[in-house]
Amino acid sequence: MSGHRHPVPPDLALQILHPDPATIFFLSEIERDAHFDPWSPDDLADCFGLEGVVTGVGGPNGLMGFMVMTMAADEGEILTIGVRRQCQGRGAGRLLLEGTLAMAWGRGVRRCFLEVRPSNRRALSLYRSIGFGEVGIRRGYYRPLPGHPREDALVMCLKMEGQQFEIPESSLMT
Ligand SMILES: CC(C)(COP(=O)(O)OP(=O)(O)OC[C@H]1O[C@@H](n2cnc3c(N)ncnc32)[C@H](O)[C@@H]1OP(=O)(O)O)[C@@H](O)C(=O)NCCC(=O)NCCS
Repeated sequence: MSGHRHPVPPDLALQILHPDPATIFFLSEIERDAHFDPWSPDDLADCFGLEGVVTGVGGPNGLMGFMVMTMAADEGEILTIGVRRQCQGRGAGRLLLEGTLAMAWGRGVRRCFLEVRPSNRRALSLYRSIGFGEVGIRRGYYRPLPGHPREDALVMCLKMEGQQFEIPESSLMT
């Protein structure tokens, strides 16, 4: 993507995922590790039937994270993104998000939406750095974290028109 502030770590690669049993198994593992309120293996398998793409980011030790993005006409929505806890903070999430947005751009997507907990500093900082802006609030949208009240969702939108989205060839796993 244009304006990329950090080089893509050379040992990470992005790939489009397909719904074979081993992949669903690894996605479930990552989901349980990364999220407080994980999706079930059936929920994850259903994602492959949606109009859109399921992408993964891998390194020398296998799949580190994945993301689900739906696409309809010129609009995309990020349904989930997560990186294994021990792999966070070294560029995998950024590659996953920027790389998948580049794929979406190629398919004609020009606006992309997502929802995020206001308390999720790391995710918010990633989204803002790419250009997502807040466009709304869904009151009491999320199940509460232990010891906290229900949490609102921030709705964010990235207007992609006028920006350039591309992913280095060397970061794509074939
Ligand atoms: C959000 C998530 C996908 C980001 O993936 P990641 O691999 O940790 O992120 P990266 O290493 O690529 O860092 C991306 C950006 O996040 C931000 N970030 C990373 N570590 C951070 C920290 N400790 N504190 C604040 N921001 C941080 C920075 O903006 C960073 O960009 P930069 O380092 O290029 O400036 C990952 O942390 C995750 O899976 N979290 C749990 C699940 C989740 O919250 N998903 C999102 C739900 S909406």
